[in-house]
Order: sequence, then C-alpha cells, then structure tokens
Amino acid sequence: MTQLYLFREKQRIAEPMNDMAAGLSDDDLRTIGDTIAALPAPLSDTRGDPARMERAQGLVAKHQCGSCHNADFSGHDQIPRIRAQREEYLVAALKGYKSNTRAGYDPAMSEVAQPLSDEEILDLAYYMAHQ
Ligand code: HEC
Repeated sequence: MTQLYLFREKQRIAEPMNDMAAGLSDDDLRTIGDTIAALPAPLSDTRGDPARMERAQGLVAKHQCGSCHNADFSGHDQIPRIRAQREEYLVAALKGYKSNTRAGYDPAMSEVAQPLSDEEILDLAYYMAHQ
C-alpha cells in the first residue's frame, strides 16, 4: 500500500505505475494492497552457487538486513518481503536506493545502500532471489 501511495503521489517515479495509480482513492490503495498481500508467497530455486551465497551471507550479517526485514527476509508491517523476489527487481531496487533515484518512505534503505559496491548489490540480489 505504501508503494502504491508513493506511485500515486509521484514520490517514486516508475512508469507505468505512476499513471496506473494516478486515479486511485485511499480505499483503492488499501483494497489492492490487501489483495496482493493475500497472494501466496513466491517460491524460489534455493540452490544458489555456494561461493556467491557465502559472500552475500557476510554482507547480510554486516549490514544487518535481517534486523529490519526479519531473519528469513519475509518482512513485516511496512518492511517489504525481499526473499524469493525477482533478482532483476532486487538489483534495480538496491541501485535505485544507492543512487537516490528511488525514494523510500523513510531513509533507511538509502543509508543501507550507500556503502554497497555494484558487485555487492549483485551478490545480495542473487542471495535474496535464492531464498
Ligand atoms: C534499518 C532497517 C533496514 C535495514 C537494515 C535494511 N532494510 Fe531494506 N528496506 C527497509 C525499508 C523500510 C524498506 C522500504 C523502503 C521503501 O519505502 O522503499 C526496505 C526496502 C528494501 C528493498 C525493496 C523491496 C521491494 O519490494 O521493493 C530491498 C531490495 C531491500 N530493502 C533490501 C535490503 C538488503 C539487501 C539489506 C541489507 C544489505 C537491507 N534491505 C537492510 C529497511 C531496512
């Protein structure tokens, strides 16, 4: 719901979602958010390349991703699920936070992503997509 709100208010620019959300009421945002949240959690191929998985695990511990996103990365409240999301989407999201082209509803992810190198972002996205 928060993400739809950011699209509607053009606080997060991601066409075509800004146009799609433009005419939605607060009730619409709630209904769509509830509907999507009730879908079954995605399944993923958990057999990631061991070397990449291990590298990413070190980054996850260092940056404490689980302290906000839950230890199993399932998220809670306004903190999104990041496990088993599409790898390309995760890369785009992390790069967007790092370059400040993707605004969050709070600055947490922008701060988390600043010190990450491009290679670390690829490893983290790979790891999350293989949970
Ligand atoms: C201090 C809390 C905090 C920490 C630590 C944190 N996150 Fe986040 N994360 C958030 C919040 C809050 C959002 C939602 C921000 C928004 O509105 O876009 C988010 C969003 C994301 C998203 C976007 C998900 C989506 O569906 O659009 C990704 C990917 C992500 N985080 C990955 C990570 C990774 C990887 C780490 C560790 C390197 C991490 N986060 C550490 C709080 C945190």
